[in-house]
Amino acid sequence: MRKTASPKTYRVESFGCQMNVYDGERMAEMLDREGIAPAADGADADLVVLNTCHIREKASEKVYSRIGRLTKGRENPPLIAVAGCVAQAEGEEIMARSQAVSMVVGPQAYHRLPAMLERAVGGLRTADTDMPADAKFAALPSRRKSAPSAFLTIQEGCDKFCTYCVVPYTRGAEISRPFSALVDEAKKLVEVGAKEITLLGQNVSAWRGEDAKGQAIGMAGLIRALAEIPELLRIRYMTSHPADMDDALIAAHGEVAKLMPFLHLPVQSGNDRVLKAMNRSHTAESYLKLLDRFRAARPDLALSGDFIVGFPGETDAEFEDTLKLVDAVGYAQAYSFKYSPRPGTPAADMDGQIAPEVMDERLQRLQAALGRDQLAFNAASVGKTCEVLVDRTGKFPGQMLGKSPWLQSIHFTGDAQIGDLVRVELVEAMGSSLGGRLV
Ligand code: SAH
Ligand code: SF4
Ligand code: F3S
Repeated sequence: MRKTASPKTYRVESFGCQMNVYDGERMAEMLDREGIAPAADGADADLVVLNTCHIREKASEKVYSRIGRLTKGRENPPLIAVAGCVAQAEGEEIMARSQAVSMVVGPQAYHRLPAMLERAVGGLRTADTDMPADAKFAALPSRRKSAPSAFLTIQEGCDKFCTYCVVPYTRGAEISRPFSALVDEAKKLVEVGAKEITLLGQNVSAWRGEDAKGQAIGMAGLIRALAEIPELLRIRYMTSHPADMDDALIAAHGEVAKLMPFLHLPVQSGNDRVLKAMNRSHTAESYLKLLDRFRAARPDLALSGDFIVGFPGETDAEFEDTLKLVDAVGYAQAYSFKYSPRPGTPAADMDGQIAPEVMDERLQRLQAALGRDQLAFNAASVGKTCEVLVDRTGKFPGQMLGKSPWLQSIHFTGDAQIGDLVRVELVEAMGSSLGGRLV
């Protein structure tokens, strides 16, 4: 590496889950503190941070094609830092494979990015994939701006070890951030513009802490405490594992008005043999019973989930069980994926890997069922009047976009500002959005 001038502009590109979006915002705030400015839209940046995802093969490969596009044919290519889960999984190998990369930083070490940057400017390449338990958050600058809808990471890591999944390896063991730090960060976010906060964690409901009086609390206690912040209007959380959902959380859904009627609870499969091979600790039946309890507490709860088709050994009949479960639940929205073998996970070495064309066919059928249910859910909302948190302007003049309590995308035309909570009558349903009228 040659010495280079200190970068004046940066861009952070985040891939993968919401936790990466949160981390990306925090890295941007750190670079702001260093006096580096965000690059204007469309302009080249002197420093590019690729905040990567390792969850499926396609996600993982994006980093190398992106590096290629950033450097090819450029006389002055940017300094490149690879952060996120690919950084954690591949470490120094990334720098061996690509000379253009001068920094590799894992998700638990990115508070050290400014120091690494200084070395990179001096011509030295560094990889840091340490996993200190919670040092990172304390070293980050305080929040200075927020969109109306903000993310707040409350928990990191995963101890569940589903046999297909890299997250326990890339994000490490489960840790909970302390209660007081979370209340402070939430208040700060609200002060700088947040109206809604989505609490994030790889296993968010596994959060545990002690409240201001030293009492042990779980996520329900945290949600109740955050609901006391007057200008905070909405609270959401994701992603949960069925094993961590306790009575207190179910009760909170019925009692805390600011907790939105939406639950993202991945099931992955509707077949018990497959679930066991995945090392999920629930069965199809225990999952459905759990949903019944949530719906009893909050009858209008919208449900979301994640699915994997083509897990090793999945038969046609076992896949049909997934379709049956989908019919039984009636999801408001859901994500579905083809199984992707990940290096180092137990499932990658299992017998019975499924042919790509079988996976394609299963995914199509599942997505058709999920799409049908999403449209039905949206169609059933037509005629309702609900609050919409406005978060963007739309494509057409005067058009505004926002989210309903059930996390549906709503568009309407009318006099409203970003950040307003307005009442909208829902008049028209589409597959993934609804049209509304201001009331
Ligand atoms: N912590 C969350 C999210 C994990 S990653 C949870 O437990 O649900 C998001 C989703 O990606 C998972 O729910 C799963 O559906 C999917 N996924 C994870 N590993 C995968 C793999 N190897 N192949 C395909 N999909 C996968
Ligand atoms: Fe991955 Fe399972 Fe942990 Fe979710 S619960 S992050 S799917 S290992
Ligand atoms: Fe991807 Fe890491 Fe999130 S693998 S899904 S960025 S936890």
